[in-house]
Amino acid sequence: MDKVLFLISAFLLVWGLRLQSDPASASKGNKYASVGMLIAIISATIMPIENSYDNYSWIIIPIIFSASIGYIIAKKIEMTSMPQMVSIFNGLGGLSAVLLSFTEINKWLSYTELYPQFVIVVLLVSLFIGSVAFTGSLLAFAKLDGYKWSEKLTLPFQHIINLILLVSIIVLSFLFIDNSADSNYLYILIAISLLYGVFFVAPIGGADMPVVISLLNSFTGITAALTGVIFDNKVMLLGGILVGAAGTILTVLMCQAMNRSLLNVLVGGFSSSGSSSKSSEQGDIKEITDSDFAVQLFYSQKVIIVPGYGLAVAQAQKLCKEIQEVLESNDVEVKYAIHPVAGRMPGHMNVLLAEADVDYSKLIELDEANSDFKSTDVAVIIGANDVVNPDAIDDTASPLYGMPILKVWESNSTVVLKRSMSAGYAGVQNPLFFRENNKMYFGDAKDSLQRLSTELKNL
Ligand code: TAP
Repeated sequence: MDKVLFLISAFLLVWGLRLQSDPASASKGNKYASVGMLIAIISATIMPIENSYDNYSWIIIPIIFSASIGYIIAKKIEMTSMPQMVSIFNGLGGLSAVLLSFTEINKWLSYTELYPQFVIVVLLVSLFIGSVAFTGSLLAFAKLDGYKWSEKLTLPFQHIINLILLVSIIVLSFLFIDNSADSNYLYILIAISLLYGVFFVAPIGGADMPVVISLLNSFTGITAALTGVIFDNKVMLLGGILVGAAGTILTVLMCQAMNRSLLNVLVGGFSSSGSSSKSSEQGDIKEITDSDFAVQLFYSQKVIIVPGYGLAVAQAQKLCKEIQEVLESNDVEVKYAIHPVAGRMPGHMNVLLAEADVDYSKLIELDEANSDFKSTDVAVIIGANDVVNPDAIDDTASPLYGMPILKVWESNSTVVLKRSMSAGYAGVQNPLFFRENNKMYFGDAKDSLQRLSTELKNL
């Protein structure tokens, strides 16, 4: 029976993932995968594991308890805090791998289970990766949630210290297996692995956390797959491989979209890349008034909105949709250009706009947008900065150089909505703001769009 359930669950997980590759079917995919996970839990519960028949309450009560906590957190979480939630859940996944491996190793120590040596090696690897994923994810959560103490911290000789810790973990593992399984080695190994997770994440800047979380996610996937091998649980193995592969692919894609290597992200990110030689070269900026902005948009033929991190911070997506509708009622064509790393997590802008019921067909990706700007009257950049920085093309000294960029300046004109002249995530000034055909519209994106919407409705 449990094998049939495993098969159904595996099918639902794979199919759910497949559906998630398209925004239109992503929500359905999520539901399929959730049902798949539920079936996997049921099938694991009825598997003939020792004691489980005698004492189901030990399994059912914690499941109900933790499912309720998960439900409440998922219901309450703000869209901008999604990466925090992922990192906490990921950390807990790592912790469960640690506990499972620890329990199995203890069975071996007390001769209740006669595991061959290679199984112990797999369990130790799972223990190590799970520990790193656990403490690393907790620290990532603290950084994303803005805890002061968790800010980027680089110790002198940080990389050498990390290397020493890694070597110690390998040596301790050998000693543990070789020296008649002395459990003291095991405890020190766990402590150092947990510490390594902290040291691994500590030097990385808070805004790079989505890449790190995705990497830690793939680590958790690997431990789940390894544990699946030990327990001969096919769904755990398959789920682990899916998470491991998806996490790795996502990590690579995010790095590519930022034109940075994973190593660059892991050893300290943008701040260490130096700043542009042109970033100090500024000039005059021009501001636009409420009424001029409204008139310019209302009498355009084609407008492209470029959403960025600031739109998410201001939670102004519904006003954005409202303005889109007013413009469309005057036959203005409105589209949204989505940069792959706009915001702070993969698909951030898609999710944000979906919340405001913006039709998916209005969203265009980088390449299509770049060919569309030439025929656009106004590009409206709302809380985006790095993803529209021309230095990514023009200035070899810029930390953004080489990052694929939205060429908004090819439109007839651009208007940038932000609160001040502060830099974006990469910490460099944006020459777009000083261009001839650009105007600035200062203020919190929600207030600015409210003002604009009122003006538009008065026209
Ligand atoms: P950013 O370059 O971070 O710029 C956001 C801009 O929004 C800032 O310049 C800020 O200027 C403005 N802003 C903030 N709050 C605002 C508010 N309430 N109202 C109006 N404006 C506000 O954003 P982006 O262009 O979306 O680029 C994303 C960056 O994050 C890229 O560098 C990317 O590499 C990085 N990143 C992304 C990801 C993923 S997966 N998305 C992962 C890691 C890193 P003011 O302070 O002047 O308002």
